[in-house]
Amino acid sequence: MRSVFVNIGPLVSFRNAPASALENSVESTGLGIVVVDGMIVKIEDSAMLIDEFSIPEGRHSVSGETACFDLKGNAVVPGLIDGHTHLLWAGDRSKEVSWRREGKSYAEIASLGGGIQYTVEQTRMASDDALHILGYQRLREALHTGTTHLEAKSGYGLNVESELRLLEVAERLGNNAHTPTIDHTWMGAHDIPRGQTAETYVEELVSEQLPAIVEQNIARSADVFCEPGWFSTEQSETVLRASKNQGLALRMHVDEFTDGGGGALAADLGVETADHAYHTPMDVRLKMKECGVNTGFLPGTPYAMGDGWPNMDEVVDKAIPFTLASDFNPNCRTLSLPFMCSLMVQRCGMHPLQAVAAVTVNAARTTPHPSGMPHGIIAEGAAANFNIVDGEHWESMVLRPSSSPFSATVLNGQFLPH
Ligand code: NIG
Ligand code: FE
Repeated sequence: MRSVFVNIGPLVSFRNAPASALENSVESTGLGIVVVDGMIVKIEDSAMLIDEFSIPEGRHSVSGETACFDLKGNAVVPGLIDGHTHLLWAGDRSKEVSWRREGKSYAEIASLGGGIQYTVEQTRMASDDALHILGYQRLREALHTGTTHLEAKSGYGLNVESELRLLEVAERLGNNAHTPTIDHTWMGAHDIPRGQTAETYVEELVSEQLPAIVEQNIARSADVFCEPGWFSTEQSETVLRASKNQGLALRMHVDEFTDGGGGALAADLGVETADHAYHTPMDVRLKMKECGVNTGFLPGTPYAMGDGWPNMDEVVDKAIPFTLASDFNPNCRTLSLPFMCSLMVQRCGMHPLQAVAAVTVNAARTTPHPSGMPHGIIAEGAAANFNIVDGEHWESMVLRPSSSPFSATVLNGQFLPH
């Protein structure tokens, strides 16, 4: 099946510039896109395509094997890529909002029986079907705001059986043609399960969980919550080095509450992405950059937790490579990347194009598409994943935090209206 999209307004393609140079990323109006079998095969002037395919203007139409869509000057941006989610978990921790307002910290809430451990109990009790339904609803929600691909971590199982189960359910979800595709991460090192010490659990992670995860062959990467009070830098290093030796790519949660040395370890190990990183000092950020480590900023977390914003001016000035992601989790229950972009633009002074790049072309570097095709860009040979903006200006993508800024998403070549 072939689809032809004509009369595109501004096209944010990111096909002509390296990710750091944003000029030339927005192309003038009037282009069209031809899609065949989930791949963009041609980008050309609409007039030529209208001629070539005898497209009646002003409406959507189907003739033979070709579906035609007249976008009437609406802007188009690449499919959004969420490089950090905790997609699968059960239970409800909304009461922690009141506890936080009473002044309790994340660690105190955890010691009161809330936090990750509570979610682990609820998740272990949920059936496969219940988790599958939750995951499906969440993927639909992500798609509604333009996400075509996301990274999903296990990490609310914390034992061999439950971690394997979470990855299995996620794998099934990732194979659905009408929801975003998934890049799978094992995060057994998300917390220390009740009844264990960090030492015994790290031993279990390396000698039991990791071999089982590798054998299961679903996870592409491993992630560790490297933070004082959870996994120390030494313990994180043990888990990450063992994972690397077994062929997994590496990701980290670092310096979320304090500078605990996680950023420095991320640089030493050359991990793909070190996320949160709010308390990572600038000299360490520069070292991470030298070592090819991406920084994943997760603005939904300070938003939900009531913490301050990172200084993005310095990050942009020093050309630190970064992505933005949702960190969807029981504390931060939004999968909207346009909302993340809006927070960065309206609260941290980021240029909107920089924000859009952070959830598309940049995110693709740490979160590859399962087909192996490039994505996060609109280019010939790339996956046919893009969003049709509900309006003529691509900037409206960062100005609609409470609704979808998109009228439709093209997912692996399929036109899905919102
Ligand atoms: O990335 N910081 C660790 N993990 C999650 C939150 C997990 C939770 O509170 O359930 C995060 O923010
Ligand atoms: Fe996280």
